Amino acid sequence: MRLEKKIAVVTGGASGIGAAICELFAREGARVVVADIDADGGAQTVSSIESDGGDAIFVKTDVSQEDEVSDLVTATLDSYGGVDVLVNDAAAFVFGEVQDVTADDWAKVLGVNVLGAAHTVKNFLPTMSDNGGGSIVNIASISSLIAQPAFVPYNTSKGALLQLTRCLALDLAKYNIRVNCICPGSIYTAGTERHIQFEKIDKAEFLKEASESNFLKRVGEPIEIAYGALFLASDESSFVTGTPLIMDGGFLAQ
Ligand SMILES: NC(=O)c1ccc[n+]([C@@H]2O[C@H](COP(=O)([O-])OP(=O)(O)OC[C@H]3O[C@@H](n4cnc5c(N)ncnc54)[C@H](O)[C@@H]3O)[C@@H](O)[C@H]2O)c1
Repeated sequence: MRLEKKIAVVTGGASGIGAAICELFAREGARVVVADIDADGGAQTVSSIESDGGDAIFVKTDVSQEDEVSDLVTATLDSYGGVDVLVNDAAAFVFGEVQDVTADDWAKVLGVNVLGAAHTVKNFLPTMSDNGGGSIVNIASISSLIAQPAFVPYNTSKGALLQLTRCLALDLAKYNIRVNCICPGSIYTAGTERHIQFEKIDKAEFLKEASESNFLKRVGEPIEIAYGALFLASDESSFVTGTPLIMDGGFLAQ
């Protein structure tokens, strides 16, 4: 029960890594607010938590829209009365070389991946600071740290999310709020499936290539990232702030 009595808000909690974080946090005693644009997936996460004996609600939220984030804060306070942990996991997956990327694509990827996190932090800040502090965990990526072919919009957004993490860690330390991010390598999720379908690439080939690119010779699982988020969310990481936790099977170490 490493999050006993804590209230956690997880954006992107309807699927993949976000859903694994919601379920693990609930097993560790947190009451969880699942925030996502996907109502069906969000309901599934809540029902999986409830059937495990946990406590969760779903709030339909597009994090790129600040008025919806403001409603998320209201719903969280109405149901649970505060927030201790905020996980920014929601992401738009927009790829391509710069000449392929439209102004709408840029607005989407930066709107969700960067502004979405800024909106949630800004809107949850008053209640978090009034409650004496908390922990914010942003789900960044190895793409925050390196260039990858034809990944311009996504990597730009994830690089910005890493810098947002560091700047927030500095500015929010005075409120006893720690801000960290996780940089996952290749993790097999619904997001991966969509990427494979969208790019019309061969799934077996993609997974083989992704596996061979790291020391452990496999892709990761959402729960492996959730354990990193649990550490950063809990008081066990009380001296950790402004840091990118790289969880990539050794990909960046080679
Ligand atoms: N899967 C990987 O290999 C991998 C690697 C590195 C980083 N990440 C990061 O991990 C996080 C989760 O990725 P995933 O693979 O689990 O993807 P996923 O597609 O399974 O989950 C992303 C969730 O975000 C939600 N979402 C999208 N736009 C939203 C919006 N505007 N408002 C609210 N919710 C929105 C989606 O509905 C979905 O439920 C993302 O931040 C992603 O960039 C994933």
